[in-house]
This record gives sequence, C-alpha cells and structure tokens, in this order.
Amino acid sequence: MLKSKVTTIAAALLIASAMSGGAKADDVLIGSCIYKFDDTFMTGVRNNMQAAAKELGAEIELVDSQNRQPMQNDQVDTFITKGVNALVINPVDRSAAGPLVSKAKSADTPIIFINREPDKKILDGFDKAWYVGAKAEESGTIAGELIVEYFKAHPEADKNHDGVIQYILIKGEQGHQDATLRSEYCVKAMKDAGMKIEEIGADNANWDKVQGHDKMKNFITSKGIDAIEAVLCNNDDMALGAIEALKSEGYNTGKDPKKYIPVTGVDATAPALQAIAAGQMLGTSLNDAHNQGTAAVRIAVAAAKGEAVDEKSVGYKITDGKYVWIPYVKVTAENYKQFAK
Ligand code: GAL
Repeated sequence: MLKSKVTTIAAALLIASAMSGGAKADDVLIGSCIYKFDDTFMTGVRNNMQAAAKELGAEIELVDSQNRQPMQNDQVDTFITKGVNALVINPVDRSAAGPLVSKAKSADTPIIFINREPDKKILDGFDKAWYVGAKAEESGTIAGELIVEYFKAHPEADKNHDGVIQYILIKGEQGHQDATLRSEYCVKAMKDAGMKIEEIGADNANWDKVQGHDKMKNFITSKGIDAIEAVLCNNDDMALGAIEALKSEGYNTGKDPKKYIPVTGVDATAPALQAIAAGQMLGTSLNDAHNQGTAAVRIAVAAAKGEAVDEKSVGYKITDGKYVWIPYVKVTAENYKQFAK
C-alpha cells in the first residue's frame, strides 16, 4: 500500500488515527535525504535508520542528494508533495537549512536534521524541528588526548628531540561544524596538557580517503617524512588515506615500530578499527551511527504520530526541546574490539 497523505486510503487512515490520538507507526512514511550516499560514516547512519524504522514498523525512503543542495531542495519538495509524515535531513550545506524548515513548516511536516547542525534560530522557527548529532568538541579533544598519551609513553617519537611535536592536521569540509571544532579542540587538548606543538601543515580533504592520501603525499614531499611527528585527521577515511601515503614510504605498515608516525581519526569505521588492530593507526573516537540513526527515526515516528517528543517517547534525552546529543567514545588498541560489529 502506498503510504501517502495524498492517497485516499492514507488520508482516511490519518483521519482515523488522528481521532484515536495519532498515526500508528505502520502508517508512518519518513522521507530522508542524505548529503551523499558515498560517505562511509553516513552510510552507517543510513543503515541504522533503516533498521530503526523496520523495528518500529515505519517505512523510510532514503535518497542521495549527491552533494548538491539544489537537488536536495527538490527532493524535499517531492517528499512533501508525496505526503511523507516526517523528514530526516542530512543537509548538503548546513547554512541552507532555513528554506527546508520553511517548506516543512508550510506542510506541517516534522523535520529532523542530522550530522550537519543548522543554526539554532532556524530550529527555533518551527516547533517540529529537531537536531540529532554529536558534539564535535568531544572528538577533537579525544584526538588531542590520544597524541598526548602517545608522546608521554614514547618520548623518542619526538624525532628531532627539540621538545616540540611537529604535526600535520588534515581537516574535513570547510564550513562543517565537525571540521572546525575537531580541528580547534584537538590543538586545544594538546596545549592544555602542556605539550609544545607546532603545526607544520594543515589542509582540507573533505572527509575523503583519496584526498586524505593526496594531501598527505604533498606534505611528505614538501616537509620530508622525518619532519613529521604526528598526523591528526578529522575523520577515519582521511586518516586511512594518510596512512596509505605513509605506507608507501615504508611507514605505518604495522611491522617496524621505528617507522611509525601516530595518526588519529574520528568515526571508528570498520577499516579504521582494522588499522588500529594492525598497529597502523593510533586511535579514533566512536561517532555513534547506531544511536544517531535510531534517535532521528524515533523522533520522526513520535512526531508523525502526534506524540510529545521527549525522553519517554524516544528513549534519548532531548536538550532544550530540540537536540539529541550522542556522546563520542575514545577508541584505542586496548578497547577497539568492543566497537567491532
Ligand atoms: C562527520 C563524520 C565524517 C563525515 C561527515 C559528513 O561527522 O565524521 O566522516 O561523515 O560527518 O557530514
């Protein structure tokens, strides 16, 4: 059966459910746009959203916005015309969330943003708008702490013995809160621990493994491998790309501890956990795709059913009536097995 407000059957169901205090979960159709399907972490969120919808007996339609905001705007229009009962949106450009909220508001359709945080004013403009994400400050701090702990245990990793750690920073997408805050807080954590540091190179690699590899290769060529003492990356895909570049220099193969430069990431994707297990990567932090995906779908279903969106109905704490924050967890060689699926 087509689950749409625009079909007569669904309209009748909605009237019936409104009379009985809300739609049943199996009447709920969620329309969801993902900024691009070809993103490792968001693929995890997407799969978890599907699983959560299935568990609740709701239907979810996921579309690929192919990294193009105008395409996503059209997809939202199509979902609204089709009569979805809630929207879950991973914006391409988080500063373009305003028009999406206006569209949702005109149709009185609940809208939940994920992963890319809109301005608070935008969320405050509609009582059925929420955000589910993680505080990027935490993952930045974890990355900095991983480096601090490593150098405490391995003072010899200060290769030129100058008492200063020369590091490379590989950042995500410009304008993304996760790139800005992770970059800021990893540096802050190292400084706060009293570590003397020097950034010898920083560049954006847009969350992408190939770009991470290419940027790292450039740094190796321009600075020389001996000058690089640590590499901090805003996510795992870029860290894995950087590790590939190090491997082609004979570093970080997991075989020779003398030829190792500590590399950190964020996300705890399966390939990152493997690299940690193989002694090629220092550590990462769990960006919890399961809980982020589940929380977003539960809010969508509760709101679509006309229920109050609160901790009781969704099982997650709602902050300021608008936000679900899922904590990051530090992942190292000691505990990575806990996170393997
Ligand atoms: C971040 C994640 C990145 C990438 C990005 C997409 O939270 O760490 O790997 O998925 O979101 O917006």
